[in-house]
Amino acid sequence: MIQDYLKAGYPALCLLTQEPHRAEQLLPSEDWNFFSWDCLQGIRDLQSMKMVEEIRDPSQALSWLNELHDTVLIVHNLHLFLESPEVVQAIQNGVSRWKATGCCLVMVSPVINMKPEVEKFFHVIDLPLPDDQELFNLQSELGKAHNIKVNKKAARAAKGLTEFEAETAYALSLIRKGYFSTKVISEAKSQMIRKSGLMEFWEPADIADVGGLNSFKLFIENRSKAFNPEHNNLPQIKGILLVGIPGTGKSLASKATASILGWPLIRLDIGSLKNSLVGESERRMREATRLIDAFGKAIVWIDEVEKAFAGTRSSGESDAGTTAAMFGHFLTWMQETRSSVLVMATANNIAQLPPEFIRAGRFDATFFVDLPTKSERIEIIKIMNRKWGSDIPVGCSDRLNGYTGAEIEQLAKDSLFDGLDQAFGALIPLSRTMREDIDSLRQWAKTRARLANTPDGEPDEQRKIRPIYKKNSVNESGLNDD
Ligand SMILES: Nc1ncnc2c1ncn2[C@@H]1O[C@H](COP(=O)(O)OP(=O)(O)O)[C@@H](O)[C@H]1O
Ligand SMILES: [Mg+2]
Repeated sequence: MIQDYLKAGYPALCLLTQEPHRAEQLLPSEDWNFFSWDCLQGIRDLQSMKMVEEIRDPSQALSWLNELHDTVLIVHNLHLFLESPEVVQAIQNGVSRWKATGCCLVMVSPVINMKPEVEKFFHVIDLPLPDDQELFNLQSELGKAHNIKVNKKAARAAKGLTEFEAETAYALSLIRKGYFSTKVISEAKSQMIRKSGLMEFWEPADIADVGGLNSFKLFIENRSKAFNPEHNNLPQIKGILLVGIPGTGKSLASKATASILGWPLIRLDIGSLKNSLVGESERRMREATRLIDAFGKAIVWIDEVEKAFAGTRSSGESDAGTTAAMFGHFLTWMQETRSSVLVMATANNIAQLPPEFIRAGRFDATFFVDLPTKSERIEIIKIMNRKWGSDIPVGCSDRLNGYTGAEIEQLAKDSLFDGLDQAFGALIPLSRTMREDIDSLRQWAKTRARLANTPDGEPDEQRKIRPIYKKNSVNESGLNDD
């Protein structure tokens, strides 16, 4: 894998992986002598696996390479020592010599954490995760040892795990079920998303709790056909953008989409992916999409997407550039990914979104979520009375014209303490102060978005939308059987 670089005389490589041991096993080849260094075991010969030099100091380990030829030194966790001037100097002094003598320093690291002093000397490569065959072989070995039949589907479910994670997931499955269970392995896989710290699982919302927005619900239900294996000729939707003033139920509708499709809900927070280190934000974004692909079916929810862009102007060029690069990658990934993934993005304010983000074709559909219509308000009143035990008469629906779902909910909660009239008096709907914003949004939406609501007076399909799977059967793995 790194042979081409070695042949070409690259003196320093950075191999990105979370599997340092696997890297040690995979890299060695005949044409070079391979050694490894870490700060506890010193320098080891990778052929004999014996320690050859008791050098624990990193800069001395690097200087050790200066005396050799055709030698590759794999160093572990060197990124943790780059604060040391001696280490930085040892790299700078070493590279031209290593290049001349056919030597190479391979830094194995889970992150790109370079110092500007040495950054240009390193070429960065990714170590791919185990492929289908490797995962299947791992399973076969374990199966043979315990006399248990292999399961190809379970091996495929392990895609995206490291070798170590796959081994432990297989073992867990044998202990829990006595066979290689797709479900157990998929559940172990949700760990991968959690541990990365890049995304979170959220509880899907019940569609019965979403008042109105029938056009949106019907759209999702209708397009979900394409995810049924029987209709694999139909194009699958990849991304939907919901736009509207705060409190109209955009986040709620995104969360409910997960229960309409019966998929796990993963929230991706762009702000938290950002990192001040150069290149790190983009790497984290790439890592997040790689994990989502590895994970499989999921709703990827990006709430209030405009916030990621906000402030990019004030905090300067580099932040704007970073955000653009992150989204550039994300949007390309969204269009190209072959996984069954549906991105649900919400925005309160389109003016803060760069035009290329909302350009036609990026999202399969853009929905404008308007203030609830009369019949929607009636539904919301009923939902809130049920949810909070309040007693708002449905006759109030006229008086609630201009109130969002969130505001009707606030009224329901306040009325429990203050009585309905006082609660009404205390609540000034946002739409009153945001009149102009709403008008301009409506204007914008006329030509560029579908309406999520069904306007009063138009025939509304009275059909109830039902989730595709029963609520309890939806787990984080998104799989409900073996
Ligand atoms: N159409 C609706 N049906 C039921 N509840 C709603 C609706 N719209 C808003 N709500 C209530 O208001 C809360 C906040 O709404 P949210 O989805 O966060 O709005 P947005 O994301 O558009 O700002 C929801 O959690 C829900 O309790
Ligand atoms: Mg919201």
